[in-house]
Amino acid sequence: MQTIIITGASKGIGREIGWILGVEAKLQVVLVARQEADLEFLAKQIQERGGKVLAVRADITQEADCQRVVEQTLARFGNIDVIVNNAGIGSFKPLETFSASEFDQMFGVNVKGTFLMSRAVLPYFKERKSGLIISIASDVSKRTFANGSLYCASKFAQDALCSALRKEVRPFGIRVSVIYPGITATNFDQTSPQAEHKKDWLNPYEIAKAVRYVIESAPNVVIDEMTIHPLSQDY
Ligand SMILES: NC(=O)c1ccc[n+]([C@@H]2O[C@H](COP(=O)([O-])OP(=O)(O)OC[C@H]3O[C@@H](n4cnc5c(N)ncnc54)[C@H](OP(=O)(O)O)[C@@H]3O)[C@@H](O)[C@H]2O)c1
Repeated sequence: MQTIIITGASKGIGREIGWILGVEAKLQVVLVARQEADLEFLAKQIQERGGKVLAVRADITQEADCQRVVEQTLARFGNIDVIVNNAGIGSFKPLETFSASEFDQMFGVNVKGTFLMSRAVLPYFKERKSGLIISIASDVSKRTFANGSLYCASKFAQDALCSALRKEVRPFGIRVSVIYPGITATNFDQTSPQAEHKKDWLNPYEIAKAVRYVIESAPNVVIDEMTIHPLSQDY
């Protein structure tokens, strides 16, 4: 059975990915995030529906944590087939109001986290000559907006990392896919996903279905990029 590591699985899009893959696709899922209680809650729900799941509390900006996620996954399930780099943070305001530590935090999660988790699985993927790395970037990995300087820059960087990595690891049988969601109803902006202004936004379930589609594609198929917008979004 395929084993999928999902970062940022405690909330929003990552939680939906965990649910769809663990319950609907019946794959072995490894849920990764910092908030242990949220991870355990989801893990219990998946388990109660017969799913196979492991929750690992980890901060993906920390090298040792990323390594531990891989070790714990192999110890529990014996294999890793897919890593979904979903964890991400965003903050939106004029550039001069950002501190240097806010810059480090945003690049730490969105870029370094994708780097560290991908690096942690690569030796294993190379040895078995297969593996799939899916990153959740953003439609603002390809365009910019006012007050989004650091977020856009980090998402452009994450995308560039994945695009170069795709070329680098293809000879080893490893595939790299990037999904670019438009505006999605989570609590990313600290307001409830059910808030009135979010009613026409993408449901995170739609992004999770896209992840499932990429995972279920034939082994000789590389879905390089997938952009998904709500019909209502002006972009
Ligand atoms: N919502 C949107 O409109 C939208 C649009 C395009 C792209 N995206 C992208 O989609 C991804 C998911 O966003 P979302 O909307 O689902 O956000 P969210 O609801 O805020 O969830 C973010 C997830 O990332 C985790 N996370 C944050 N920092 C972490 C760290 N240092 N280590 C481990 N996990 C960490 C959080 O868990 P803990 O706090 O428990 O660690 C949480 O599970 C992000 O990469 C975001 O850039 C979102």
